[in-house]
Amino acid sequence: MAAKNKTGLDTYFKRIVGGDQTFTIEAPNLKFGLGSIKELGEEAHLRNIRRAAIFTDPRVSKLDYFQAAIDSLSSSKIEFEVYEEVEVEPTDRSFNSATLFAQQGQFDGYISIGGGSTMDTAKAANLFASYPDDLFAYVNAPIGQAKPIPGPLKPHIACPTTFGTASETTGIAIFDILEKQMKTGIAHRALRPDLGIIDADSLKTLPAAVISANGFDVFSHAIESYTARPFTKRKAPERSLDRPLLQGANPFSDMACLEAIRIIGRNLEAAVSDTPDILVLEAMAFSGMLAGIGFGNAGCHVPHAMSYAVAGLVKDYRQEGWPSDHAMVPHGTSVIVNSPASFRFTAQACPERHMKAAEALGVDIRNLPNERAGEVLSEKVIALMKSTGVPNGLQGVGYTESDIDALTERTLPTKRLLDISPRSVNEDQLRSIFRDAMSYW
Ligand SMILES: NC(=O)c1ccc[n+]([C@@H]2O[C@H](COP(=O)([O-])OP(=O)(O)OC[C@H]3O[C@@H](n4cnc5c(N)ncnc54)[C@H](O)[C@@H]3O)[C@@H](O)[C@H]2O)c1
Ligand SMILES: [Fe+2]
Repeated sequence: MAAKNKTGLDTYFKRIVGGDQTFTIEAPNLKFGLGSIKELGEEAHLRNIRRAAIFTDPRVSKLDYFQAAIDSLSSSKIEFEVYEEVEVEPTDRSFNSATLFAQQGQFDGYISIGGGSTMDTAKAANLFASYPDDLFAYVNAPIGQAKPIPGPLKPHIACPTTFGTASETTGIAIFDILEKQMKTGIAHRALRPDLGIIDADSLKTLPAAVISANGFDVFSHAIESYTARPFTKRKAPERSLDRPLLQGANPFSDMACLEAIRIIGRNLEAAVSDTPDILVLEAMAFSGMLAGIGFGNAGCHVPHAMSYAVAGLVKDYRQEGWPSDHAMVPHGTSVIVNSPASFRFTAQACPERHMKAAEALGVDIRNLPNERAGEVLSEKVIALMKSTGVPNGLQGVGYTESDIDALTERTLPTKRLLDISPRSVNEDQLRSIFRDAMSYW
C-alpha cells in the first residue's frame, strides 16, 4: 500500500536534492450538467463573442444536440459561421485548412461542438489565426521547433460530444503528421479553452464502440498520470516559465485520477451496453472531466507515447462506429492495446501505485503482494477489454511482429511523454513492450 509521511502525504513525492519542489494546479473553467448546452449563448455573450467560428464534424453537425447549441447562440444573437469539415483524428492537412477558414472569417471567438478531433482543430485554428507561423513552430522538440505561444488566444468555448479526450480541460492539440506517419501535439497553457460545457445529453447518440474507446482513454489518462514520475524527480527549472505544463504526478492530480479510475471501473461495462442509462453516461462524463484535470496537470506516459505510432502507421484497420472512408486506429483503441504490456513494464518503478489503481478498478487486492502489481493490473484491464469488445492487442488492429521496428522508431521521438514514465525506457525495452502488446488472449 502507498506509504504516507506523518502528515498523511504520499512519500512518492519525497523531496530530492536538485528536484523540483513546486507543482502548479491549472484548473480549467467548466460547466457540468444535463441541459447545460442551453447556456452556451449566454456564455459566449459574456466572453464578448459576437461573431463566432463554429467547428464541428460532418456527423455531429446533424445531431439534435448540435441544433440545441445553435439555438442557444441564436437566442443570444451571436452571429456565426460553421466549419464542418473537421477530420476525425485530425492531420497536418486538416489543421491547415481549418486555420485558413479561421484566418478568413474575422472571428472574435471560437466554439467547438464535437469530440477531441473537433476541439483540437478549433484550438489549432485559433492559435494559427492569432499567431500565424509554421505548423511545427509550437510543436515540442525534437519533432518541432518548441517555440512558446506568444500570448493569449481569442476566447474558445469547447462543447464536447464525447467524454474521453477531455480536450475541453487541456492545453493540448493532437494531430497526425501524414508524411511521417506519426502523431504529435502542441501542448501549451494558452491553448486551454476558456470554458468547457459538459452536458451528458450529448452522449446519447454515441455508438457503443466510441463509448468503449473513450472509456479506455479516460482510464488511460487517469492511470498514466497516477503512475507518472513524481514532479519531485524532475530537475528544478531555472525559470518558472520553463516548468512544463505536464509536470508529472502530484498530490492534486492523484485525487482526480483515482476517483476517475474508480468511476470507470464501476460504470464502463454498463456504458457500453446497447441503451446505457443517462446517469451512467453522466458518470462517464464526470470521470472524463476528472481525468482531464488530472492529466492536464500531470501527463501521460508509455501507453500514450506508443499510441501515436500505432495510430500513425495504420494499414487498413477500420473500427465499427467510426467513419469508414479511411483506415484509422481510433485514439482510445490505439492507447489501450499498449496498456497491459506497458504496466507490466512500469509496475517495477512504483508497484504500490499500480496496485492502488487495480484496487480503484475494483480488484480485491488484500492478499496480493506488491511484486505482482503489474500482472494484477494488466489482468484486470485485459478482462475489461474483452468484455467491452476492444481488439486483442496490436494484432487486433492489424500489426505483426515485423512492424515492431517501425513502431519503436516512431515512438522514440515522443520525449514529452516518455520522459514522464516512472521507469526510464530505452529502445530495446520499447521494442519488447511492443512485442508483449501483440496479443493478450
Ligand atoms: N487534446 C487532448 O488533450 C486530447 C487527449 C486525448 C486525445 N485527443 C485526440 O482526440 C481525438 C479523438 O477524439 P474523440 O475520441 O473525442 O472522438 P472524435 O472527435 O474523433 O469522434 C469519434 C467519432 O464519433 C463521432 N461522434 C462524436 N460525438 C458524437 C455523438 N455525440 N454522437 C454520435 N457520434 C459522435 C464523430 O463524428 C467521430 O466519427 C484524437 O485525435 C486524439 O488524438 C486529444
Ligand atoms: Fe488520450
